[in-house]
Amino acid sequence: MIYNQWYVILESKELKRNKPLRIKRLNRNLALWRDKEGNIGCIDDKCCHRGVSLSCGKIVDGKLECPFHGFIYNKSGIVEVIPAIGKNRKPPETMKVQAYKTFEAFGLIWLWWGDDDKVTTEPFFFKELGSFSYSSFKDHWNVHYSRAIENQLDVVHLPFVHKTTIGRGNKTLVNGPVVIRDKELITFYVYNIEDDGKTVPLKPDEIADYERLFHLQFHYPNIWQNYISDKIRAFAAFVPVDEENSIVYIRYYQNLIRIPLLKELMNYIGKISSIIILRQDKRVVITQLPVKSSAKMDERLIMGDKPIVEYRKHREELMER
Ligand code: FES
Ligand SMILES: [Fe+2]
Repeated sequence: MIYNQWYVILESKELKRNKPLRIKRLNRNLALWRDKEGNIGCIDDKCCHRGVSLSCGKIVDGKLECPFHGFIYNKSGIVEVIPAIGKNRKPPETMKVQAYKTFEAFGLIWLWWGDDDKVTTEPFFFKELGSFSYSSFKDHWNVHYSRAIENQLDVVHLPFVHKTTIGRGNKTLVNGPVVIRDKELITFYVYNIEDDGKTVPLKPDEIADYERLFHLQFHYPNIWQNYISDKIRAFAAFVPVDEENSIVYIRYYQNLIRIPLLKELMNYIGKISSIIILRQDKRVVITQLPVKSSAKMDERLIMGDKPIVEYRKHREELMER
C-alpha cells in the first residue's frame, strides 16, 4: 500500500452510533466506533492486555470498553481505566494500542495510513458530487486493490467484457488514449472506434481536441469517477482489505432529477445497471494472476494500456517517496 495517504475505507452508514464495528482494511483488523456526537474512534482491534477483539466490547461514554476485563480505551488508543487497579489509578503508559486518524465527509470514511506528522488536513474528493444524489453498493473481490483499480483504467476491455452493456457497438480499435496526470489525479480520454480493417489507431499526441472526448478520472490512492455527463457520474472506491482481497464501493450519482421518488427510482435503476456492469468486470478480473500488480511484471502491454502504465509508474514513485 502507498504510505502517507488517506484511504477511503468505509461508507458512513456502515458505522452505527451504538455498536462498535470490526473491519479488516490495509491488512489490519480495526475496531471502529462513534461517540454520542458521531465522532469516530479507530484503533487496532486487539486489546493490549490479553489480545481480545475490542470491537466485541461496548461503547461507554464515547470510549471503547474491552469485553474481557473492562479496560477502557479512548480514541487515541490509550487505556484510561483499568477497573482491576481502581478508577483512581492511572494505567501505565505502555497500556495502549495503535490508533488511526479518520476523516468523514460525503458519506464516506477515510483512514490516514501514514505518519502522524505528515497528515494532510483533508483527503481529496470529487467535490462537485456533493450536490448530486446517489445510490450505492459494495462488492468483495478476491484481488489486491491495484487490480480492481486497473480494471477501471482499462479502456481496451470495453467491447469484450461489456459487449452487452457499456461496450456495445464493437468499438475494438483503441485510439490513444490521452492520459493526463496532474499530481495525484489521472484523467484519461477514451476514443475507441469500430475497426474498418484499414485504420491504424492514433497515438495519444495525434488526437486533436481530446477534451471533447468522454473521460474518466482516478485519484490516488483509491477513488475514481466515470464522467458520464455533467449530471451523471459513476464513482468507485477500491478499498484494500489485505494483499489478496479488496472491497469495491460503487455509487451512481446524478443531478438530473431532484423530485422525490422519481429521484430514488432513477438512482435505483442506476444502481442495478452498475451492479450488472461490475459483475461483468469481476468475472474476469478475479482470474488475473498475479492478484497484485506492480510496475515490473510479466505482462506485455499495448498502447491502449497507457492509463494502467501511468497508474503503475506513479504508484511506484509514491511508494518510493
Ligand atoms: S483482554 Fe482486554 S481487558 Fe483484558
Ligand atoms: Fe469494466
